[in-house]
Amino acid sequence: MKYAHIVGWGSFRPDKILTNNDLSRMVDTSDEWIYTRTGIRERRIASEKETTATLAFEAAARALERADLHPSQVELIIVATSTPEYIFPSTACRVQDYLGATRAGAFDLSAACSGFVYGLSMASQAIQTESVRNAVVIGAETMSRVLDWQDRGTCILFGDGAGAVVLKGSSIPGGVMANTLRSDGSGGNLLSLPAVYHNPMPMLGPEYLHNGHKKNTVEMNGRQVFRFATQVIASSIEETIAKADLTIDDIALIVPHQANTRIIETAAKRLKIPAERFYMNVHAVGNTSAASIPIALCDAVHDGRLRPDDNVVFVGFGGGLTWASSVVKWNVTPPEVSLPRREWRRARYIAARGRSKLKKWRRKLIDRVAGSPTPHARMRDADRK
Ligand code: UT7
Repeated sequence: MKYAHIVGWGSFRPDKILTNNDLSRMVDTSDEWIYTRTGIRERRIASEKETTATLAFEAAARALERADLHPSQVELIIVATSTPEYIFPSTACRVQDYLGATRAGAFDLSAACSGFVYGLSMASQAIQTESVRNAVVIGAETMSRVLDWQDRGTCILFGDGAGAVVLKGSSIPGGVMANTLRSDGSGGNLLSLPAVYHNPMPMLGPEYLHNGHKKNTVEMNGRQVFRFATQVIASSIEETIAKADLTIDDIALIVPHQANTRIIETAAKRLKIPAERFYMNVHAVGNTSAASIPIALCDAVHDGRLRPDDNVVFVGFGGGLTWASSVVKWNVTPPEVSLPRREWRRARYIAARGRSKLKKWRRKLIDRVAGSPTPHARMRDADRK
């Protein structure tokens, strides 16, 4: 029997901070309204140069350093995201390339704010069935690119960032012990993000736009999502801890999706436990969708909220509608990685980018020698015609 242990974790947030006061100069809102309704004070915003993939890479590199795992040993990369740069190539493939993880399978997972827990569940099962020996699970988002910055109902909520964990197979009991994944597509319209300019039948005219969406920005029915979230968090946690043969008293810490402190407080009441048993960092990062749980996990570890042998629960909820939870026994202490070794790892990522460029040049050269036009040349020729 293999157990899937979390042996590394890392997060990354962009430098730029957007405060509630900054937002109050952009839309009709205030620090007081945002803080009392959501618990958020500030969030991070990606720079022009940063993408979901670069944030994901930074988080994954930190997690691999912590796990002392060389990228060439990685066997699976899952990126949970709602803000990929491309439908394909997947963000996971870009991360694979940036890391130089030459033996890894890689794919993106779309389950909105529940995506990280869905990914953790998929990866842990792949390890438990010995289909892979290890996996990197990443939640990464650049939500700032898909917000309507004039819609005060949504733009005040979200932020950018990434978090990652490394899972590794071990015969030591523990690690990811149980998962529950759920969905309810009938509530898809309550929280949505159209993939492209959403006009499926242009010849029929704009009245045929799906759900009336005219742009690819987040749309949300806040009150309904709030109600849904408070209903599913407690039931999902109870179901998963029962599967792991545990009770709520056995759980040291719950790391929930960071959407709103009021949601968490309501869930804590339903579970009859103090809200302090839930870790919260939403004040500092806002709602980073799929990235929120792994970022919160890293902060919780940093704050000393997790000790060896603690049982920790992750619980996510969001668009789809989707919700999910996992119970993890936190019982593998990662090795300390020395600074020179960490620096050496960084140098390897630069080498990985160099190798990736070389491969691209070689493909171009082969195209030239074979006489077949490059995609760029094909587009140029098509334009000329
Ligand atoms: O990660 C996915 C999960 N998403 C969530 O968990 C979001 C869940 N929903 C929520 O967190 C809350 O519903 C919100 C924070 C989005 C909104 O809080 P609310 O207490 O549900 O407010 P509301 O939508 O009921 O709006 C109350 C009032 C309205 O004004 P009227 O109609 O009462 O005059 C809104 O127009 O607050 C107004 N309002 C605002 N006022 C100042 C809405 N947004 C703002 C704003 N600043 N940013």
